Amino acid sequence: MSMALFLIFCILCFASPSAQKAESKLLFFFFGDSIFDVGNNNYINTSTLDKANFPPYGQTYFHFPTGRFSDGRVIPDFILEYAKLPLIPPYLDSSSSRYYKIGANFASAGAGALVETFQGSVISLQTQLGYHKRLEKRLKKIHAIANNTAVYLFSIGSNDYMSPYLITNSTHFNASYSNSHLVRMVIGNITTAIKELHQRGARKFGFLNLGPLGCQPGLRIILNPPNDSGGCVGSASLLARLHNQALTKSLKKLAKQLNGFKYALYDFSHDLERRLKHPSRYGYKQGKTACCGTGRFRGTFSCGGKRPVKEYQVCENPKEYVFWDSYHLTERVYKEMAHQMWNQQPTTGTSNLKTLFESP
Ligand SMILES: *[C@@H]1O[C@H](CO)[C@@H](O)[C@H](O)[C@H]1NC(C)=O
Ligand SMILES: *[C@@H]1O[C@H](CO)[C@@H](O)[C@H](O)[C@H]1NC(C)=O
Ligand SMILES: *[C@@H]1O[C@H](CO)[C@@H](O)[C@H](O)[C@H]1NC(C)=O
Ligand SMILES: *[C@@H]1O[C@H](CO)[C@@H](O)[C@H](O)[C@H]1NC(C)=O
Ligand SMILES: *[C@@H]1O[C@H](CO)[C@@H](O)[C@H](O)[C@H]1NC(C)=O
Ligand SMILES: *[C@@H]1O[C@H](CO)[C@@H](O)[C@H](O)[C@H]1NC(C)=O
Repeated sequence: MSMALFLIFCILCFASPSAQKAESKLLFFFFGDSIFDVGNNNYINTSTLDKANFPPYGQTYFHFPTGRFSDGRVIPDFILEYAKLPLIPPYLDSSSSRYYKIGANFASAGAGALVETFQGSVISLQTQLGYHKRLEKRLKKIHAIANNTAVYLFSIGSNDYMSPYLITNSTHFNASYSNSHLVRMVIGNITTAIKELHQRGARKFGFLNLGPLGCQPGLRIILNPPNDSGGCVGSASLLARLHNQALTKSLKKLAKQLNGFKYALYDFSHDLERRLKHPSRYGYKQGKTACCGTGRFRGTFSCGGKRPVKEYQVCENPKEYVFWDSYHLTERVYKEMAHQMWNQQPTTGTSNLKTLFESP
């Protein structure tokens, strides 16, 4: 019901001449987790922990909940806007086929690169790739072009490292794997996904690295003894740093191995860390406490009152907050980050998304 409204709204909103023109080529595929999910989890059998299709989610821009884990839009929405394209609905929405000329969004909140990550509650990266494969013939017919000019974007990994903390509720990472083994498996599965898509013709890729995971309000609260001056769970942030180093290295290697492989790597971690450390420098009032949730730092994941804990508070102005809920960012942060991804000064070996998108 709300999805249908959303689509009518978007068609009216974005049916500009430039959008029509750009629709003649295949453009974006989104894979990954809640940073990219625009509502796929609305269509799967999962718990409210992995859903955001109830108020106050969506209050800022859409004025109704769409399934996005934010007060408003998320990163894919802004990227499409910068590319002068209409928003695309989640792949599992029945209207998504009308948008195949622009691309598709397969992302699922809670998903990781490992199948074990929140298994049964999310659409794993492997399943997302399977959905993309299912479209292959249809896409070829629509586009009738020899060269694949689409950009394949990934936001994946956070949940692989976070799920052990969330499941055991302990600051001491205690999984069956050492840090380096876990990172190797996650990067290994991301690499496998890249190679599979490359084999199917993909050439342009974009990636986000991982933010300081231990500083999310939902993780800060598991510190024992409690740390109200704002300590982060160092072991979780360490995993993210190890992942980021391995990702950078692995992408450099793939660029040498894979014919025509081009990529943009966005330093999500750097930009989030700056905002958490110096919120006021970026115009935020609050970098530790979430806008929506309950308890210390509003780190108890109760935003909307439909999850196991029913009590929640919501701030007056999400624009003043870096975190929207215990684990997710506000629309304002996502917008700033998407802008940065699109326009940032390219570093060696990589490019910004705009350049990648416009390249042949
Ligand atoms: C959804 O999941 C629940 C719990 O795992 C299960 O009992 C139920 O049968 C599932 N429903 C469908 C339609 O698959
Ligand atoms: C595909 O790319 C190659 C090399 O970039 C170019 O020469 C060729 O014309 C392109 N083909 C089509 C159909 O765009
Ligand atoms: C997690 O631990 C905290 C404090 O150590 C406790 O207050 C909370 O109830 C625990 N949560 C769960 C789901 O066990
Ligand atoms: C990790 O958990 C297992 C059981 O899940 C337990 O036997 C083991 O002692 C734990 N290790 C540490 C270091 O806490
Ligand atoms: C991918 O992850 C699985 C666990 O889900 C692991 O067994 C496998 O070794 C990983 N693959 C690579 C190439 O690392
Ligand atoms: C709490 O966090 C602050 C900031 O990271 C740190 O300086 C302090 O040592 C921590 N306190 C405790 C009791 O862990």
